[in-house]
Amino acid sequence: MDLHDYKDVAENYDRYLDVMYSQGQDNHEGFQEFYLNLARHFGKGGVVDIACGTGAVLLYLAKRGIEVDGTDLSEEMCKVAAAKAEAMDLSVNIYPADMTGFCSGRKYSLAIIARSGFMHLPTQELQIAALRNIREQLTDGGILTFNTFDPWPPMQMQQMQTDPQKDYSLRLEYVNSEGRREKIYNAITYDPYTQQMYGHWKFETYDDEGNVIGERVRPLMMRQTYRSEVFLLAELCGFEVLDIYRGYHGDKEDIHDITTARQYRSNLIWVLRKK
Ligand SMILES: C[S@@+](CC[C@H](N)C(=O)[O-])C[C@H]1O[C@@H](n2cnc3c(N)ncnc32)[C@H](O)[C@@H]1O
Repeated sequence: MDLHDYKDVAENYDRYLDVMYSQGQDNHEGFQEFYLNLARHFGKGGVVDIACGTGAVLLYLAKRGIEVDGTDLSEEMCKVAAAKAEAMDLSVNIYPADMTGFCSGRKYSLAIIARSGFMHLPTQELQIAALRNIREQLTDGGILTFNTFDPWPPMQMQQMQTDPQKDYSLRLEYVNSEGRREKIYNAITYDPYTQQMYGHWKFETYDDEGNVIGERVRPLMMRQTYRSEVFLLAELCGFEVLDIYRGYHGDKEDIHDITTARQYRSNLIWVLRKK
């Protein structure tokens, strides 16, 4: 089980992300419009939102008339997305599946993995399995987009000193789906050999008097991927790199200059085309 497989995490996901973003901890600003533009450009043959979570992209696109399916490994995230679709009166096909093996029986001209879904694949083997499977689900010349963060060595060095069971730091405070104040702490460590970030999120619940009345600890595993690796993964799995954007506001990277990774701590949005 990973963070998003838990019912309590899925049910509170939108709530704590809202707070995260309102506090400026937002590396994804502008993401919905970015994907809408891609969908309008490349999505005429159908769009699939992979690792759709609670539907931030999926429902945004569906509401604007894009034909889009959603899939996520977590049944709990799918349930929240489906409930939101129903409340919005949108008929959307949402199904739980692992991106390394999903198949809905139809092909898509655009596959989207938004807001770090790809980073939840913890090994290169799983990244390759996912890319090869997604390629199978695309029409000829179909497009896949996902994001990675340029690994940032000073941060990783710091995380190498962290005990993932003990060294919690406060991330944010929000009000949970039951109307209770909650603080979220995390303790994340980094393994430079596997490039995995592993640790725990701790949710601490308070009563009206400020006493702690509950605690839930949930595991998290992600993998850092260097931009040079993505070029190799793309080649290996039958894609070409069409574009790389630095952030969701449309700044393009020079795809032939891998040294720019030294200058920026970037959220890179990759646009790959099926060869
Ligand atoms: C950070 S959330 C992003 C969710 C959504 N794309 C968004 O923008 O809000 C990452 C999502 O990836 C999903 N996920 C993790 N591993 C997956 C896998 N192997 N296949 C499909 N989904 C996966 C998780 O369940 C979670 O919902």
